[in-house]
Amino acid sequence: MTIESIPLLETRQTPFFGHQAAFRADRVGLLEEVRQRCGDLGRIRLGPISVVVVTAPGPALEVLQHRAEDFQKSRGLGVLARPLLGQGLLSSEGELHRSRRKLIAPAFYKSAIGGYGDTILKATAETLDGLVPGQTIDVGEVMMALTLKIVGRTLFHAEVEGQTRAVGQAFTAASEALVAQLGSPLPLPWPWPSAANLRLRRASAALHQVVEEVIVARKRSQDPAPDLLRLLLEMRDEGGQGLSSDALRDEVVTLFLAGHETTANALTWAFDQLDRHPKVAARLAAEAQALDEPLTANVLPRLPYALAVLKETMRLYPPAYFVGRRALRDTQLSGHRLPKGTTVFVAIREVHRRPELYPEPELFRPERFLDGAEERLPKGAFLPFGAGPRICIGNHFALMEGQLILAALARRFGLRRPKFQAPLPLDPLITLRPGSKVELQVTSAFGQPPGPEGTKPFARQLA
Ligand code: HEM
Repeated sequence: MTIESIPLLETRQTPFFGHQAAFRADRVGLLEEVRQRCGDLGRIRLGPISVVVVTAPGPALEVLQHRAEDFQKSRGLGVLARPLLGQGLLSSEGELHRSRRKLIAPAFYKSAIGGYGDTILKATAETLDGLVPGQTIDVGEVMMALTLKIVGRTLFHAEVEGQTRAVGQAFTAASEALVAQLGSPLPLPWPWPSAANLRLRRASAALHQVVEEVIVARKRSQDPAPDLLRLLLEMRDEGGQGLSSDALRDEVVTLFLAGHETTANALTWAFDQLDRHPKVAARLAAEAQALDEPLTANVLPRLPYALAVLKETMRLYPPAYFVGRRALRDTQLSGHRLPKGTTVFVAIREVHRRPELYPEPELFRPERFLDGAEERLPKGAFLPFGAGPRICIGNHFALMEGQLILAALARRFGLRRPKFQAPLPLDPLITLRPGSKVELQVTSAFGQPPGPEGTKPFARQLA
């Protein structure tokens, strides 16, 4: 069978441009339609390019894991992200990627991240200390600031909370520029001074400045703490050469971005869902409040429901809702011959919404991840962190961080919408963000009605 035997999505096409307009305007809806109409594998056309879309666990694992050596990252991360991420871990390939991954991996071993628990909890407590029942908070903004603070402190011993806005703006501008390029019929090489490229360059420069300040401060500091930045600074190859300043900057920018935006998104969606499911919120609070000892990384096994809430949120709203690959050579996918150069999108959100894996898939039910239910799913059915050699290096870190933040908040407060809000629109750029602000009022506990209105928004109170 050839690539032509993979069903093409017949709907939402325009002459010459194929599904380009639909991809730009409604990426998530388009990928969903591929799952519904084409089955495990489908095809869309982005201008002259035919893209294979994978929506089932088996072929997803084939691309990401079993035939991983036949693929590299697709244009989005591999080429277009270059001005922002350079040759950092997310975007590098081949031998360079393998050697860096080996170098960086120990900072993310389970044994190492256990030690980050206290830092995560201290940063979370500082954030919670600033909350007062009755106050309205922009949950997305608070979570971005918190997760950025956590990644800065745990990996780099850096205080970057004050830079949240600069980092956030840079990330958004970069994501918009990348997505505009990805859906463009004629993507321009990034040195070309198009409006999108100029925005991307400006955003990258702002972010690089923040990161260079972090690196300079760490080089000057006498603090011998063995964090990831010290490891990168002290790294030497066989010839005694350290990382060049560009390489160092690329790795730090990558970890800053990859390490906070995704987790903040997942938590923001989680609080949105908790508000819409009061019984789930009450069970989460009961679990967290029943702990008869201080919250530390050691008590994580006693918080299975917090973890289930996080996982169920990422099933419905996976921050990386699809990942792209390009065939390096002629290869196979579920018996179809794919020619060298074929682009494949693994539609993670669509894998997570298959009814035979997750009955009534659109419903938010954390119980799907309790009592060993996850182990009974077929391999590849739950892929929020991808799979294979490019699986998220921070997956255990992110799960621990999310579980601790959910439990810490649920022990002290609740969050509640003052009045009903329809399901949020999606804002799918590089990651899947809520399309409007998640503004919730702090209550004394989950399940409590909102307090009096009129207190200052959280961000302004911090300023
Ligand atoms: C809920 C949180 C997170 C989600 C959903 C997530 C998701 C992902 C996914 C799907 C990939 C694979 C991309 C691909 O295959 O093309 C990835 C890669 C990566 N993630 Fe995460 N991530 C999260 C948190 C983190 C954290 C906390 C860090 C670091 C502190 C991190 C650092 C990275 C890096 C460096 C890579 C590239 C790994 C490589 O290619 O070797 N991520 N992430």
